[in-house]
Amino acid sequence: MPIARWAFNIRQPLLLENVEPLVTSLTDDDKPNIVPVSNLLNFLPKIECDRLLQFRLEDDMRRALIGRLMIHSFFAAHHDCRWDRLVFSRSETNKPILLQPAHLTKVSFNISHHGDWVILVGDTSLESTVRLGVDVMDFQEQVPGESFETFSACFLDQFTAKEVAFMTDAPADPSSPSGTAPQLKRFYRMWCLKESIVKALGVGIDFNLKSFEFDVKDEEETTKPTLSTRIQVNEPSPEFPEEGWSFEEALLDADHCYAIAAQSEMEGSGPIMDGSEIKRLDWKELLKDAVPYPAQFS
Ligand code: COA
Ligand code: MG
Repeated sequence: MPIARWAFNIRQPLLLENVEPLVTSLTDDDKPNIVPVSNLLNFLPKIECDRLLQFRLEDDMRRALIGRLMIHSFFAAHHDCRWDRLVFSRSETNKPILLQPAHLTKVSFNISHHGDWVILVGDTSLESTVRLGVDVMDFQEQVPGESFETFSACFLDQFTAKEVAFMTDAPADPSSPSGTAPQLKRFYRMWCLKESIVKALGVGIDFNLKSFEFDVKDEEETTKPTLSTRIQVNEPSPEFPEEGWSFEEALLDADHCYAIAAQSEMEGSGPIMDGSEIKRLDWKELLKDAVPYPAQFS
């Protein structure tokens, strides 16, 4: 399979056994077997550590840290690259860019973090030229009890009439009256799709989100990936082609959905996604190739 898709639940406790012998100290006094994730800053370059240390909320830091670790783990696992040889920068729109090693700089990858999950998507091939974008959303982000109309009022002008109709036409769910309202679930799904395009193109947040429209064919999401959603691009260009797009959408659990956008430059290369469920990683797998960046302490 050419595209790697990984999901990591940030609520997994980091146990001492997951990091030994990489990290041997700094366990929590109350829970001697649980290691603070800040230990893992050793496995990232100084510039990333400095950024991560600026987060005020522990969960924000945790998600962003795990995202960076997943990118390293992906290049180590699929491109046989030594963990501490990777050098990154950012584009003008803040998209991470790989600078070193030089032979891997064209490999597409993207991450997203929200709620309990971090997702990575990455191209495992050196030959293909695929654009990749991913977005994950936590349904519980809205104020509890807030109606769909109130919650979505500020955002609905970012969607086309057909996309708004898809959200508002959602049937009520009598089996789960206290769960997230079906309209909100569709709103988050549409939001993920829009963001996956923004991120695959690597553009900024001022991008016109009505310049393209989604046609959702499978209306209900489950943990099994849906591959049937299609896109229409109003004014196709070399920067934003209409052809070659594939989408993967699914639920990670009752509260989170994700969407992946992939666009292949290779004509007639067939579907990019294979329909298999996203791979859920644990700490052991995430850190199996990890080595510290020694230079950051100099
Ligand atoms: N293109 C692609 N990837 C980008 C990116 C860009 N321009 N800018 C950042 N990223 C990557 C980074 O790896 C970043 O994580 P990191 O900084 O910890 O390394 C990650 O994407 C963030 O993605 P996500 O977790 O999904 O964050 P987000 O949804 O808050 O932001 C943006 C995504 C930054 C790309 C941007 O589109 C944004 O701010 N969007 C929110 C506002 C909006 O109007 N959305 C409309 C949807 S209808
Ligand atoms: Mg997002």
